[in-house]
Amino acid sequence: MKKLLSVKKLKVVYDSSAGKVHALRGISFNVKKGEIFGIAGESGAGKTTICRLLMGFMEKNAGISGQVDFNGDDLLKLNYKDLYRLYGRKIGFLPQSIASLNPLLTIGTHITETLKKNLKIKKKKILKKKAIYILDALEFSDSRQVYNSFPYQLSGGMNQRALLAIAFCCFPDLVIADEPFTGLDPDVQNRLLETVRILKDKKNISMVIVTHDLKVIEKICDKTAIIYNGSFVETGETKDVIKTPLHPYTQSLIKAMPENGMIPTWGFAPGALYDDAGCSFQPRCPTGSKEKKKHIINSPASVGNNHYVWCLNVKNQESVKDLL
Ligand SMILES: Nc1ncnc2c1ncn2[C@@H]1O[C@H](COP(=O)(O)OP(=O)(O)O)[C@@H](O)[C@H]1O
Ligand code: SF4
Ligand SMILES: [Mg+2]
Repeated sequence: MKKLLSVKKLKVVYDSSAGKVHALRGISFNVKKGEIFGIAGESGAGKTTICRLLMGFMEKNAGISGQVDFNGDDLLKLNYKDLYRLYGRKIGFLPQSIASLNPLLTIGTHITETLKKNLKIKKKKILKKKAIYILDALEFSDSRQVYNSFPYQLSGGMNQRALLAIAFCCFPDLVIADEPFTGLDPDVQNRLLETVRILKDKKNISMVIVTHDLKVIEKICDKTAIIYNGSFVETGETKDVIKTPLHPYTQSLIKAMPENGMIPTWGFAPGALYDDAGCSFQPRCPTGSKEKKKHIINSPASVGNNHYVWCLNVKNQESVKDLL
């Protein structure tokens, strides 16, 4: 599979009145064509910052370094005009909440305006035909009725599905999703995730999904990175990361899942102001917290099948290659 997105040593430091906020501390990952890459971690870990950068949106107070290569373009170096051309057409965005739908516009208008802006289609008949096509693909039972409906006339699940229609209507190469489908009834969530998979398989679309919900990761992502306090602590194929987690933070997230008894992780993340060398999980770590010496991690351990773990307790089983 061809590489579509390659993020290298991405660092983001926000300037704030409280000091330097280290939102991302040098993360790297690749996404191939047609692949879904999930990034999971708790609130404040840096997930939305990743989405913002992938969408070309840089906060004024953000100091950014690294590389974000999308199909040969470094997104961090493109000018506004080039970025504008890319977004919507080549990169779509799936927001978390249906609050991003305009209550004064029908679902049809949301979709046709997106098509008009990105694909430069003017003919109303063609716009409507394309909008109905995507609504049909998203398995609405009555696409024409949904096309003419305002958001308040539809259920929460249907509006979520409408967000999918807007994100996917131009069939972009990549869709970025920030906490999609959170807080939904499990049946609705399952059906939406299944629809996403069918749609992205049909059109070979890649996705980056960030979430705190490991269920979403488990159900839909091919590869997964676990992020803690701005750093990746474990990456690999989803089945390996979820079924054989090796970092104590990943293990604690798995234990916190409802089916595993919802056991919370002891203590709190040190926060993005933390600027100390060494493993930032140490104060919460069953092994590391007992030791006075700082655990400094220079490189991740490679445990096979592109599974990497940033923990001194995990021993290398393979030489560390070009990451992921
Ligand atoms: N514009 C900003 N200025 C200062 N700090 C910010 C800004 N945006 C986010 N942060 C901080 O950066 C860290 C990461 O935030 P965010 O990317 O939103 O994490 P997540 O989405 O995982 O909750 C947090 O500590 C947050 O408070
Ligand atoms: S590096 Fe040390 S402190 Fe950090 S998670 Fe591993 S054992 Fe714990
Ligand atoms: Mg967020």
